Amino acid sequence: MSLLLDEIALATARLAEAGVESPRTDAELIAAHVHNVKRGELHTVPDAEFDARFWADINRRVNREPLQHITGRAFFRYLELDVGPGVFVPRPETEVMTGWVIDRLREMDVASPVAVDLGTGSGAIALSIAQEVPRASVHAVEADPLAGVWAERNITRYVDSYTAGRVLLHAGDFVSADFAGGLADLAGLAGSVDVVVSNPPYIPLGSAVPPEVGEYDPPSALWSGSDGLPAIRGVERVARWLLRPGGLVAVEHGAPQGAAVYWVFPEESGWRDTRTNKDLAGRDRFVTATWPGM
Ligand SMILES: C[S@@+](CC[C@H](N)C(=O)[O-])C[C@H]1O[C@@H](n2cnc3c(N)ncnc32)[C@H](O)[C@@H]1O
Repeated sequence: MSLLLDEIALATARLAEAGVESPRTDAELIAAHVHNVKRGELHTVPDAEFDARFWADINRRVNREPLQHITGRAFFRYLELDVGPGVFVPRPETEVMTGWVIDRLREMDVASPVAVDLGTGSGAIALSIAQEVPRASVHAVEADPLAGVWAERNITRYVDSYTAGRVLLHAGDFVSADFAGGLADLAGLAGSVDVVVSNPPYIPLGSAVPPEVGEYDPPSALWSGSDGLPAIRGVERVARWLLRPGGLVAVEHGAPQGAAVYWVFPEESGWRDTRTNKDLAGRDRFVTATWPGM
């Protein structure tokens, strides 16, 4: 054993007592971050190089600060994103919906597909689409100026490597009554967009959430009305406005909301092929639908 591995064992017990869900993983990832080594190299850190900042960071996690705020990084599909106070930490559930969108965009017989990501936060969905669908351009919309700073930072970070300026950030509000005014930048795209995708705020006001979420994710990323549906209804209205005939919408929701969100995209409003899709844990997680005309 080494000093660092002993400290990791102690920290794991402390994190478990504090109610952290994956205490061993978090202790190891914090140790790797502090000592600037890979997780598989922790045993190689000499005792003399043990860094006491390890315990400072463990104590932040004991206080239920998200791991990603402590390391400053979040992994999403093939991206490593900068995150911190003021921006929603991207979640694995959203990777599944993003993969669905990427697969559909790749299948489309369109030379340079156009996607719109409503509520882009860190830019996770928009950047993944640009990275994995080489000729796609993505318009990323964000209302919260603090989150917009993080999106800009991540877009800049990837601009030279994979996404080559194909992600355009717009300050805008997709829920307000005057949504077309709030999204004036996108007016030129009306009726021509191939995919509208969104992971909007969808937690009903007053719901209980873990401290990592309630105290650290920005409120604008979480809460939406008493039933969690107003922002999803906003996505539906904007999708109807932007999509071309045959265009697709994908919107994430909470596991218990599958049936309610299905009915936000009914045939009576013109939608076709409305489906509830599951995440990797088998829970209802996102609804997809087609705008008719093809
Ligand atoms: C749940 S977070 C998702 C962030 C990112 N797309 C992801 O999946 O990690 C929702 C995002 O939508 C933004 N948002 C909330 N209401 C909005 C609105 N009316 N117009 C534009 N953005 C909004 C929030 O600020 C937040 O960044």
